[in-house]
Amino acid sequence: MLKEITWQEAIKLASPYPYVLAVTTDKERRPNAIGLGWWTYVSWEPPMIAIAVGPERYSHECLEHCGEFVLCFPAEDQWKGAWHCGTVSGRGRDKLAEAGLRTIPAKVVKPPLIEGATVCYECRVRERVKAGDHELFIADVVAIHGDPERPKHLYSIGYEKLTALSHAEVEPLG
Ligand SMILES: Cc1cc2nc3c(=O)[nH]c(=O)nc-3n(C[C@H](O)[C@H](O)[C@H](O)COP(=O)(O)O)c2cc1C
Repeated sequence: MLKEITWQEAIKLASPYPYVLAVTTDKERRPNAIGLGWWTYVSWEPPMIAIAVGPERYSHECLEHCGEFVLCFPAEDQWKGAWHCGTVSGRGRDKLAEAGLRTIPAKVVKPPLIEGATVCYECRVRERVKAGDHELFIADVVAIHGDPERPKHLYSIGYEKLTALSHAEVEPLG
């Protein structure tokens, strides 16, 4: 039976959510990656994606400098490094190296792709909208990469733990 619950209880109950990494570059052109649950597709044609990033994140500063990001779906075996990117700031440290995540150059944008990811969207920011304690970066998708051999990627349970699922393995209803 439905009953009134708190914001925190609802966020956990409504999970899992796809957990992604947004790779940016800082003013010295060094790459950094942030773990994100708050991302969404916002337009089919043209393809567009929005991410919500807190102003205190180092990635917020990086986005201001480079105006581009690569939204990557880390594969199951990358979960430890992906979690590191969501729990430690890259300010003054090489978070990607610490996370054991290797990068490869993107086709169009400055930030790199994460090698071994399931899908990577190269994105160029078109618009910014402040929303409460986060800011939305709304972006055009300018190139897309995927590895059909590695379909299993990460989902967060609440914001506490990760699990991995693949569209090829879940049972469709009906
Ligand atoms: C499951 C999970 C989801 C997260 N989602 C977001 C998000 O959508 N937006 C955000 O600003 N931070 C989010 N975070 C927090 C950042 O990933 C975290 O603060 C990170 O250390 C910031 O790194 P940076 O300072 O290098 O940018 C999330 C963390 C976790 C573990």
